[in-house]
Amino acid sequence: MNSYEKLLEATEYLQKFTSSKPEIAVILGSGLGNFTGEIKIEAEIPYEQIPHFPVSTVEGHHGKFIFGFMDGRSIIAMAGRFHFYEGYTAEDVVFPVRILKFLGIKTLLISNAAGGVNPTFRVGELMIITDHISFATSNPLLGKNDEKLGPRFPDMSEPYKKVLIEKARLIARKLNIDVKEGIYFGVTGPTFETRAEYKMIHFLGGDAVGMSTVQEVIAANHIGLDVFAMSVITDIGIREEENIITHEEVLLAAKEAEPKFSLMFRELIRNI
Ligand code: HPA
Repeated sequence: MNSYEKLLEATEYLQKFTSSKPEIAVILGSGLGNFTGEIKIEAEIPYEQIPHFPVSTVEGHHGKFIFGFMDGRSIIAMAGRFHFYEGYTAEDVVFPVRILKFLGIKTLLISNAAGGVNPTFRVGELMIITDHISFATSNPLLGKNDEKLGPRFPDMSEPYKKVLIEKARLIARKLNIDVKEGIYFGVTGPTFETRAEYKMIHFLGGDAVGMSTVQEVIAANHIGLDVFAMSVITDIGIREEENIITHEEVLLAAKEAEPKFSLMFRELIRNI
């Protein structure tokens, strides 16, 4: 069975769980899974039940595909995602993104936990991703291109839709939430960066660094989804103190920032 047939089979399986036609989907990053508490759930499907779906293994990721309603709007939420560092291929990582398109999604909202490399950032702040740098991770479109999914050489001049960024800015202002903006630098992980690497990433133009999102955004652009993405800054890479960064600290910081994050995403969904 080729990849396209696998996508069709997974899509057909999932379609049975909903009678609505969701056009917005949300991918929830590390420590941000509680957002599902705001959703009136119609169906919850563990990833391991979905044909051909990879299975998430990281602590803090629940691994559920959710159909539901938020303020009456039909949405899909993915609680938990697949990371390249877990050993999946880049194609596996973006498998769910393609299914979202097959299910009729038009707009994809992505969240993640990220390390701040812009020295003006503080732990717990939110950052709207305005652009990304992908060279330090594997491109999910490497290999034979399936024209049914998208073009061989996709344009990446507006990977994060300007109209959605503008909406988020207005919402942040209205809610009085201090939201930063910046460039997300994608890495494979699983090591956090060395001090020299954090400096290099900043020097190259990154404001935050993380181990997810970039591959999803590439596949989403390839297949024609509108993307908005936001990071929760969970640690500061460029820093003076001699402290270390742990996964626990990242999860804790994401949890603490979650109410702010949820408010932003909820309001954005209302305004799309
Ligand atoms: N680096 C890479 N990925 C991350 C970080 C970081 O500092 N924090 C959260 N995800």
